[in-house]
Amino acid sequence: MHLSGIERDMLAGTHGRASALAMNILYELGELYAAERTIPVAQVHIDMTLYMVDAGVEFAEKMAEWGGKFAVPTQLNPASIDLLHPERLRVPEDLLEKSRRLEKAYLKMGAVPTWTCAPYQQGLIPSFGEQIAWGESNAIAFANSVIGARTERYADLTDVCAAITGSVPEMGLHLTENRKAERLFSIADFPSRAFDNARLFPLLGFVFGELAGDRVAALDGIPENVSMDNLKSFSAAAASSGAVGLFHIIGVTPEAPDIQSCFRSETPMETSPITREMLDAAEAKLNQGGAGMPDLIVLGCPHYSVDEFKALVKRLDSRRIQSGLEFWVFTSRQTHNQIKKARLLEAIERSGVKVFTDGCPLQYPKDSWNLHCAMSDSAKYANYCFSQTGLDVIFSGMRDCIETAVSGALKRTPLWK
Ligand code: F3S
Repeated sequence: MHLSGIERDMLAGTHGRASALAMNILYELGELYAAERTIPVAQVHIDMTLYMVDAGVEFAEKMAEWGGKFAVPTQLNPASIDLLHPERLRVPEDLLEKSRRLEKAYLKMGAVPTWTCAPYQQGLIPSFGEQIAWGESNAIAFANSVIGARTERYADLTDVCAAITGSVPEMGLHLTENRKAERLFSIADFPSRAFDNARLFPLLGFVFGELAGDRVAALDGIPENVSMDNLKSFSAAAASSGAVGLFHIIGVTPEAPDIQSCFRSETPMETSPITREMLDAAEAKLNQGGAGMPDLIVLGCPHYSVDEFKALVKRLDSRRIQSGLEFWVFTSRQTHNQIKKARLLEAIERSGVKVFTDGCPLQYPKDSWNLHCAMSDSAKYANYCFSQTGLDVIFSGMRDCIETAVSGALKRTPLWK
């Protein structure tokens, strides 16, 4: 892989140990994938911001100690916890200490403390065609597909390296030829009013991800007026059930104004239908052992938007949630500020709902809470919940989550009416 003069100097250690290690890792990655050269990136989103293992903390600390500085604007995925109000989430000392160490190391290298998995909702939003290096599966799928920016699916640590070097190997989804659709799926038999139900999109994304796997695929049959929040829940679900880094929705996403464009003038071999039965089966699969009443409602995976908070306030309609039940919503600091200014936050909190910033609901401190069953409007959360938290899980829409919390009895409306 061809390196520029500065990159060769980095590799040789002229710019310090952190740059040398970062360049070395990216150089080996590029060689492995037969990249011919590197390309500059306009910005980076770092995924390795949760405390998972000590090695993650130590890597960030070492890079900071060795003089690592981020060469391009660099944002951060969620921490494990709410860094601003850890006491509200009952964060134990050791988890707080590890999270603070990660925070200190990334801020020392120059990160913007965004702490959100929906970095496309505000702040440093990339533009169409821009080369970027993002980690976090839902954000990668959204940036590539809905915005039309270009990022490979960066694994933990490689995103930190890209932030330090400001460049990446030119490979994968950075290249036009790899962004072509290989398979076409089509909505088979959905009634048109089905698309008014936000619960449809995470289920559709989940089925799409299972079918697409790691290939670029296209979907036909989604109405053009689909909302950004619907595309967000679709992206998150598709990237959790499959290794989806880029999808095209015909007539909706920017590289797919029509079928010919996203197949680059080749004719799709065949069109595979996505049926109502497939979505019903996905919903059954996402309900893992949760037949009883949940004691935790979780919204905000990925982090909730201002529009989603508006819908939440409207649906809550000043009603209080039942005592003995936790109702948590996760969002970014920026969205939190916006809903506070708009007085949505006080309406939500009056109902007994807790809004957390920075954190990820899958990382909540389990020993601090005696919880057994969660309910969520997120297919991604439902998909990972049992394996990562041990909680039973019920998937449904926001409306059912709220009605369950307010009534104290499990409410699940049929998907198809
Ligand atoms: Fe975000 Fe955690 Fe969900 S990082 S997408 S809230 S699993």
